[in-house]
Amino acid sequence: MIFYFTGTGNSLYAAKHFDKELYSIPQEMKKNSRKYKADRIGIVCPLYEFDLPVLVKDFILGSEFETEYFYIVMTYGMHHGGCAARNAEFFEKEGKHIDYFNTVQMLDNALPVFDIEEQRKLDPEKKVDEHLALIKADLGERKNYIQPASKEEVDFYEGYIANAIDYSASIEKPRYKVSDKCIGCGICTRVCPKGCIRVEGGRAVYDYTNCFGCMSCIHACPQKAIGYAVLQEKNPNARYRHPEISLAEIIQSNNQD
Ligand SMILES: Cc1cc2nc3c(=O)[nH]c(=O)nc-3n(C[C@H](O)[C@H](O)[C@H](O)COP(=O)(O)O)c2cc1C
Repeated sequence: MIFYFTGTGNSLYAAKHFDKELYSIPQEMKKNSRKYKADRIGIVCPLYEFDLPVLVKDFILGSEFETEYFYIVMTYGMHHGGCAARNAEFFEKEGKHIDYFNTVQMLDNALPVFDIEEQRKLDPEKKVDEHLALIKADLGERKNYIQPASKEEVDFYEGYIANAIDYSASIEKPRYKVSDKCIGCGICTRVCPKGCIRVEGGRAVYDYTNCFGCMSCIHACPQKAIGYAVLQEKNPNARYRHPEISLAEIIQSNNQD
């Protein structure tokens, strides 16, 4: 049993390697009471700003899991910042024991930081399938492992934290804006895991109140009509979805209708 969240498909692609029984976290969050029982329960999701997406953290903290083996695998782009060790400790304090916590490097979809075209060139070096196979083997053996935080990653994380105030100011809500290129197709409304977008008068209207910044709407827009409001993007013409994951799968995962 795996609970996953994905903005652009990487984490769903990873989750499919580990188990067949997949449940979308945005769909599960519609339930008032969440109690799960299985031999092995996993969480697979992207890493956002060296942490779990707030939606995923809320899901874990607000659900009951009865299992002999609980694991978390996060997909990330360039630096995980020691996220696994830090969060394993956090969840332990919250009374949730994690048996296995690891990360896997995939394409970085963070538009203000990276040009997706440049990221695509790095893909082969990341050896994604090889790493997914190693993690799958670990999970098969029910290995106990928490990825340690190396000094390099901790330094990276602390450097980010030191500058985080500037960064937060630049993503002050609303994070995103919709341009005149919008044709009102409504795809953005269906990939948003928090129902932040609706179409009104043939045009997307973004309500930032519940937005946690997954960029799913920006990446899925066929017109490239959604972009950052204040932050500059490295390449406003480059958008991403994992090549093995369809738009229909992202919609099925995140749709809040
Ligand atoms: C808001 C946001 C923040 C991110 N922060 C980080 C980060 O701190 N470090 C990193 O290596 N990648 C970061 N990424 C990249 C994603 O973790 C990575 O591309 C992930 O595989 C995307 O998974 P998905 O396709 O399942 O959404 C970030 C992406 C987004 C959208």
